[in-house]
Amino acid sequence: MSEVKLKNITKKFDQTLAVSDLSLTIKHGEFVVLLGPTGAGKTTTLRLIAGLESADQGKIFINGQDSTKSQPAQRDVAFVFQQYSLYPNYSVYDNLAFPLRSPYRKMNKQDIDKKVRDIATTLHIEDKLKNKSTHLSGGEMQRVAIGRALVREPNIFLMDEPLSSLDAKLREELRLELKNIQVNLQATLLYVTHDHVEATTMADHIGILKEGELIQFDTPDTIYNQPNSIYVADRLGSPKINIMPSHLLNIDIPENVKYIGVRPENVTIDETAQMQAHIETIQNLGVEKIISMSINGEIIRAIVRPDEFHKIHDTVKVHITRKNMLFFDKNFQRIQIKQ
Ligand SMILES: Nc1ncnc2c1ncn2[C@@H]1O[C@H](COP(=O)(O)OP(=O)(O)OP(=O)(O)O)[C@@H](O)[C@H]1O
Ligand SMILES: [Mg+2]
Repeated sequence: MSEVKLKNITKKFDQTLAVSDLSLTIKHGEFVVLLGPTGAGKTTTLRLIAGLESADQGKIFINGQDSTKSQPAQRDVAFVFQQYSLYPNYSVYDNLAFPLRSPYRKMNKQDIDKKVRDIATTLHIEDKLKNKSTHLSGGEMQRVAIGRALVREPNIFLMDEPLSSLDAKLREELRLELKNIQVNLQATLLYVTHDHVEATTMADHIGILKEGELIQFDTPDTIYNQPNSIYVADRLGSPKINIMPSHLLNIDIPENVKYIGVRPENVTIDETAQMQAHIETIQNLGVEKIISMSINGEIIRAIVRPDEFHKIHDTVKVHITRKNMLFFDKNFQRIQIKQ
């Protein structure tokens, strides 16, 4: 079992509140993703768990033990950084074997060899084992960095945007591999990304950070469909959720509703509808089209099927079902309304 628990963690750098009263539990075998804009405190949270920073307030428990003051080595965590951090003079093989050769492990040569070859095969770098780690492509280097973490069985894997420096195709491939490996190992993993597709495809739970505070912690499905604020609603989905002033849609709603959110896939163009819209732009993505329309000066995006034919400057009618609307108050917080 390996579980990591943060209780009311606060970390300041001079005047900057990097992490603010953060409580979070990463359960055994769980893949948790931290999502948030730049400066939200994601890296600092990982560094606090690893023991590379010390918390000003709060406690960190690893497997139920208070580890708030433990040295990094005692915490037994594996960290993958955004930029490849390999030993440049070592071969790929030695980079992968390095964590296993620690005298504390007392692993024999054959076991190390098997482990290194297994992980290299999983990550498709088995034919690069003899290369110097500097004689690799960026994608291969990052695989080695991930492999070096995966050869161990630490309490938790901490990964800080490990795929962000790779091209889109490789990122997609490694995303699937990493998720498979995590499931097979039943590894406990805390993963930082800016990429909402990575977050929704890999996470069991997503934590949304804003200025060091955890704003919502839920499954990807709940974060997407039941966000607790406009800030959270904005983090997932492409194109972004439409947020419009409540008076734009002529519907019966309580006074305190100031904004209405509707995902683009829930906006339909329907000749029998009431609301008029003017098409501004059309993006054909092959599997779907994204249509931007103005409704009384507000831009609303719709995702429509590729065979729906519309032209720029067409005037169309738009329909949005009430059950697909999210309601928010003047402070951008969600209001639940019985439908
Ligand atoms: N060593 C440091 N000294 C001073 N301020 C720091 C230090 N490390 C982080 N900060 C500040 O703390 C805040 C959180 O930084 P952090 O690196 O955790 O953000 P992040 O969410 O990882 O952002 P990014 O997405 O850009 O990587 C930022 O305002 C940052 O400037
Ligand atoms: Mg960071």
